[in-house]
Amino acid sequence: MTTVSAPGKLMLMGEHAVVYGYPCIVTAVSERLQVSMEETTDGNITIDAPQVKNTRFVNQAIIDGTNTWNILHKGLRIKTQSNFSNCYGFGSSSAVTVATLFALAQVFRNNVTQKQLFDTAYKTVLSIQGVGSGFDVAAATYGKTLLYIKGGSTLDELPWNLNTNGVSLVVGYSGVKADTTIIVKEVAKKREEQLERVDRIFEAIGKLVVQAKEAGDKNDWETVGKLMNFNQEYLRDLGVSTEKLDAMILGAMKAGAYGAKLSGAGGGDCVIALVSKGKKETVEQAITQSGGTIVSVQTGTEGVMVTE
Ligand code: PMV
Repeated sequence: MTTVSAPGKLMLMGEHAVVYGYPCIVTAVSERLQVSMEETTDGNITIDAPQVKNTRFVNQAIIDGTNTWNILHKGLRIKTQSNFSNCYGFGSSSAVTVATLFALAQVFRNNVTQKQLFDTAYKTVLSIQGVGSGFDVAAATYGKTLLYIKGGSTLDELPWNLNTNGVSLVVGYSGVKADTTIIVKEVAKKREEQLERVDRIFEAIGKLVVQAKEAGDKNDWETVGKLMNFNQEYLRDLGVSTEKLDAMILGAMKAGAYGAKLSGAGGGDCVIALVSKGKKETVEQAITQSGGTIVSVQTGTEGVMVTE
C-alpha cells in the first residue's frame, strides 16, 4: 500500500471575487486527508471511503488520472481516511481528489509535476461540482499560504507565518454546514440582476487582497486585520453572511481581534479571526460565547505528500 496525504484549506481573503478572476489568499491547514492505494489483479476498483461523498471524487479522479496519464491497471484497492469533519468546509472533496491522483501517480511511478497534478485535479472537481475557482485544489496540491488566481494562473507562495511572529489565526465553526455550490450560484444570479454593483464589490475585494498581501508580507497584521474587516463588509453586501457568523465575528472584534470574517462561501461553515498571541484565548472565549466551536488548526502547512 502507498499512502499519501493532502491538507484541507481555509480561505483567508477574496472568496467569491476569485470565481470572477480576482486574486484570493488561501492557506493549507494541519487537518489532512489520507489516501492509501495498491494495485490488485482482480480487475475491480474497490473503494473504502467512510464519507460517501468522497467516493464520487475518488472514482472520477481515477478515471481522469488513468486517461490523462495513460495508466493501465489490473485493479485497484483504495482506502481514504480523514482527520477532519467534512462539516467545517475545509475542502475534503478537493483534498481527496488531489490525494487520489497523487497516490495513482506514485503507485504507477508516474512523474507528474505539481502543475499537472493541479490541472488534472481541478478538472475532476469541476466536472463534479460545475463551479469553483480551484483555490481548494491549489491548497491541497501546493500547501503553504498562496496568492491564487482562478485556474492556477497565479500560484504565489506567501512568506506568511500565522503560527509564530506574535500572531495567530483563530477558527470558529458556526455549526451550520454551508452548500458552496448553491451559494456560488446565488451570487451569480445576483450578479446577473445587478451586474455593475456586484462587479464593483468583486473589484474592491480584489484590491483588498492585493493590499493584504503587501501588509502580510511585512508582518503588518494590524493592517491585514483591518482589510479582513473591509472584506467582511463586502461579503455582507453580497448577502452571504448570516446572523450567526456576524455574531461570532462581532464577538471576536469586541474581544480585541485585529480582524475577523467568514471563510469560504458563507451561509455557515467557519469564521476566522486574526489575533495577537496575547488575545488568542480571549477571542476564543468570545467566539465560543457567541455560539461557535473553536477548531484548532495550524496554517501554511505542506501540500500533498507521501506518508508511508
Ligand atoms: O465554501 P468553500 O470553503 O469551499 O469556499 C468557497 C469559495 C468561493 O470563492 C465562494 C468559491 C470558489 O470556488 O472559489
